[in-house]
Amino acid sequence: MSDELNKEIARRRTFAIISHPDAGKTTLTEKLLLFGGAIHVAGAVKSNKIKKTATSDWMEIEKQRGISVATSVMGFNYGDYKINILDTPGHQDFAEDTFRTLTAVDSVIIVVDVAKGVETQTRRLMEVCRMRNTPVIVFVNKLDREGRDPFDILDELESELQIQVRPLSWPINIGAKFKGVYNIYEQGLDLFTPSKQTISERVEISDVTSPEVDRLVGEADAQKLRDDLELIEGVYPEFDTDAYLRGEVAPVFFGSALNTFGVKELLDCFVKIAPSPRPIEAVERQVRPDEEGFSGFVFKIHANMDPNHRSCIAFVKICSGKFERNVNYLHVRQGKQMRFAAPTAFMAQKKNIVDEAYPGDIVGIPDTGNFKIGDTLTGGENLHFKGLPSFSPEMFKYIENADPMKAKQLDKGIRQLMDEGVAQMFTNQFNGRKIIGTVGQLQFEVIQYRLLHEYGAQCRWEPISLYKACWIESDDDEALAAFKKRKHQFMATDKDGRDVFLADSNYVLQMAQSDFPKIRFHTTSEY
Ligand code: G4P
Repeated sequence: MSDELNKEIARRRTFAIISHPDAGKTTLTEKLLLFGGAIHVAGAVKSNKIKKTATSDWMEIEKQRGISVATSVMGFNYGDYKINILDTPGHQDFAEDTFRTLTAVDSVIIVVDVAKGVETQTRRLMEVCRMRNTPVIVFVNKLDREGRDPFDILDELESELQIQVRPLSWPINIGAKFKGVYNIYEQGLDLFTPSKQTISERVEISDVTSPEVDRLVGEADAQKLRDDLELIEGVYPEFDTDAYLRGEVAPVFFGSALNTFGVKELLDCFVKIAPSPRPIEAVERQVRPDEEGFSGFVFKIHANMDPNHRSCIAFVKICSGKFERNVNYLHVRQGKQMRFAAPTAFMAQKKNIVDEAYPGDIVGIPDTGNFKIGDTLTGGENLHFKGLPSFSPEMFKYIENADPMKAKQLDKGIRQLMDEGVAQMFTNQFNGRKIIGTVGQLQFEVIQYRLLHEYGAQCRWEPISLYKACWIESDDDEALAAFKKRKHQFMATDKDGRDVFLADSNYVLQMAQSDFPKIRFHTTSEY
C-alpha cells in the first residue's frame, strides 16, 4: 500500500444527509457547501423535492431529474478533508433510491425537526443504517422555532431510532427565546445571531461555570444550562468515538440550518469523528480501501434528460485502490475489459473529467446500457460486492402493452428502467404477466412517461390487488415444491429468477405461514 493512497483515504468523508421531507436537509446541505467554499451565497442549491401539489406534473418530474443529476454528489474540500455529500431524493416515492445511496456512504447525518421529532421516513431510513451498522450523527434543526423539549427529543430519538444518543451540543432555550448553543464537544459557547447568509461568531469561554456565561445569556438561563449539562453528564455515558463508529451511539447536535447556526460545530466535529472509507464486504472476501487493486460498484444509474441520445451516467463508488482514466478494468458481470475516457468527478457542483479518484470518491461514467445497479468493476479480480437487498414493494400493477406495434421498444424500455432501479418487476409464473412493484404512485407515472418519451412505447396499467411480495426458501425441497404447486397462481419470479410468493392480503400470508411451517417467507431479497 502506498503512502499517497493512505493519505487520500484518511482525508475522505463520504456521507449522506437523510431526513423526513421538510426537516431541513436541503438547507443543511447548502450551509455545509457554504462552509466548504463550494458555493458563495445561500440559495444556490435547489431543493430536489417534488412539491406535494405537483405529483402529476410531468415537467416537475423532469425538472427534479435534471436538478438531481447536478446535485447527486457534491464534493468539496474543507481544511485538509475531502468531503463527498451524496444526495438522496426528497420524495418518499423514491425511497428505494435512497436505500441504494446508503450502500455507498460511510456515514450519515440525520436531520430532525425539533417540533416534529422522529417522522416515518426517518425511521425507515434508520432501519437501513442499522442493517449496515452505519455511523449516524443527528442534527436537531429549527431551534429558532417553538418546538419540543430537547430532553424529550433525545428520549424519542433513542426509542424510535433504536440507538443510544449522546448530546454533543446543547441549546439555551428554544424558539423566540433561543439564545445559543453550548458546544459540549469543544467546550465553547455559540451565541445566536439570526442570519441566513453569514456564519455565526463563536464566543470562547473557559468553561460553563465562568461568570462570563451569566453575563452573556443572563443568570437564569446560565443556571438552567449548568443544570441541564449536569443532568446530561449524569444520564449519558461519556461520548465514545469507537461506539459511534460501530453504529451503537449517535452524537446529537442542535441548531438552525436556515440561520447557519450550530452547523459549523456539526461540521467540525463530523470531520474529526466520522469514518474515512471503510472495508466493504464482497461475496468472496472483505475488501480494504488501502489495497492497491482498484475496485468499485455501481450504486445509481441516472438516465440522460435528452430522449434523443439515450445515454446514462453510472455512479461508481470507489472501494479500493486508485481509479484512473483510460485504464482497463474488468466489468465483472459481463466478464469484459472496459476503459473509460470521460469519467467525471463532482466538485463544487461542477462535473469535470477526472484522471484519477480514490476510495470514498464517486465517479460518473457515461454509459449506453452496459451497467446495472450493483455491478462491480475491478482491476481484474472476480469480486461481487454485496448490495442492499430489494424490499417488498408496497404497490403493484400489471403492466400491459398499449401499442402492439411497439412491443420490442416496450420490452427494452422496461428492462432498462428496471436495471436503473426505477422499480421492481415480477413475472407471474402462472400466466407470464409482468407486474411492476413500487413504493409509491409517482413511480408508475414516471415509468409510463419515460417509456413514452425515451422509448416511444406505450404502456397501460391494470389493477392487481396484492399485499406483499415475499421471497421464499426452505431446506426441504419437497415442502417447497408442494407450496409452489398449491400456490401456483400466486408464484412469480424476480429479476434474478428467484421465487417470490405474491400474497394478496396479510391474512393470506399468515395462513400460508401457518400451513407451511417449513417455508421461510422474507420481505427482503437477501436473507
Ligand atoms: P428538506 O430538504 O428536508 O425537505 O427541507 P428544506 O431544507 O427544503 O427545508 C424545509 C423548510 O424548512 C424550508 O422552508 C426551509 O426554509 C425551512 N427551514 C430549514 N431549516 C430551518 C431552520 O433552522 N429554521 C426555520 N425556521 N426554518 C427552517 P419552506 O418555506 O418550505 O421553503 P422555502 O420556500 O423557504 O425554500
